Amino acid sequence: MQKFIVNGGTKLKGNVKISGSKNAVLPIAVAAAILGDNISVLHNVPNLTDVKTLSAVLEGLGASITRKNGSLYIEPINRMEFEAPYDLVRQMRASIYVLGPLVAKLGRAKVSFPGGCAIGPRPVDLHIRGLEKLGAQVEVKRGYIYAQAERLIGTEIDLLGQHGPSVGATANVMMAATLADGETVINGAACEPHICDLANFLNAMGANIDGIGTATLKIEGVRQLRGTEHNVISDDIEAGTFMVASAITNGDVYVEGIKPHQVTAVTKKLVASGVQLDWDDNGVRVTTPDKLNAIDVETAPFPGFPTDMQAQFMGLLSLATGTSNITENVHTDRFIHAAELNRMGADIRLEGRKAIISGVSSLSGAPVMASDLRAGAVLVIAGIAAAGETTVSRIYHIDRGYEAIEKKLKALGADIVRVNESV
Ligand code: EPZ
Repeated sequence: MQKFIVNGGTKLKGNVKISGSKNAVLPIAVAAAILGDNISVLHNVPNLTDVKTLSAVLEGLGASITRKNGSLYIEPINRMEFEAPYDLVRQMRASIYVLGPLVAKLGRAKVSFPGGCAIGPRPVDLHIRGLEKLGAQVEVKRGYIYAQAERLIGTEIDLLGQHGPSVGATANVMMAATLADGETVINGAACEPHICDLANFLNAMGANIDGIGTATLKIEGVRQLRGTEHNVISDDIEAGTFMVASAITNGDVYVEGIKPHQVTAVTKKLVASGVQLDWDDNGVRVTTPDKLNAIDVETAPFPGFPTDMQAQFMGLLSLATGTSNITENVHTDRFIHAAELNRMGADIRLEGRKAIISGVSSLSGAPVMASDLRAGAVLVIAGIAAAGETTVSRIYHIDRGYEAIEKKLKALGADIVRVNESV
């Protein structure tokens, strides 16, 4: 395993280019590999472990995938392989995305039941509910989900869960519905930017999806989908992470390749805490006054404040003046990074879904451990802001969702190296 060694006390300065969106390219690659009848080409594809893992799952199903200069060339499946095995699915929950498309295309699927992870149990009952409503017979046994259907039949589906809309279930059911007979209406659909990008990709393949960007999706089933070419949208969470990295280090960073509408909820909170944002057509310059002020944040499904930016804001508000409150409403257990930040001198108290953050004047470097990709990211940027040395272990979590994070941070002046754990 590898770790990062960070020597803190740096104000980040310079220009960072945001990569393609992890949470958009994963379902889009599935759609291209399973639903399409011929080759698709995806551009602006981030070089991430999750993309490599998903490519292995799709190649196991018979697709062939070539990466060249930031693009993926995807030849769709051409045989009746319908099993996504445990050893790959357990590495990445998004493998569950193959379930709906396989049933729609081949009439059957066998997908390992995805495990939980550090941010909660991560159930898939809404994925199963949606596919059953479309007429699939679904059974969960011996750690696998078995699904089959002669034909999927369009219908009205209420996909809202107890924690609100589900990004994954919306993607799974929407992809399946594109090849169903008749019209499907999904109520309570997720509207995240990556769901919109997936829907736009499916329509470019010949699907018939209306209501993109709203909580009600109308999908008129078609007989087949053809391959197409697509530029993946930029990653709003990576952009938000680098905005926080500039703010937490009192830096001056230009975040290139993001549009205001992709990060509205995050930028509203950054400005409320005192961060200065200067937008132009290609991105935003992020500068900060000497001290930030405390604010309250509640995570919510889009267009609310994204849960994937919660950890980053916990780090930022650790250095704000006053007491901030962060409430995590989306995932049931996404505060593990609080204890790690406290090891660095932060003063964070947890009360159920709420974290109470009393701002401190400075953080100090310490050995800490990443528990998920966003927790890992905040520990790295907190280490850059802290005085002294921070080592962040289990950085494989970070590599899942951030393309060459240490190269981008080094280019902004950070003192960070990647070493093997044995060091
Ligand atoms: C996606 O996960 C993202 N992953 C997550 O990003 C993100 O945190 C999450 O959406 C919320 O925005 C990808 O897109 C690959 P959900 P997903 O289904 O689809 C509950 C990151 O940092 N739920 O929207 O798994 C669930 O427990 C990752 O990039 C059910 O109850 O999330 C959660 O409380 C981490 N039943 C809530 O809904 C279900 O069948 C939202 O989950 C499915 C979900």
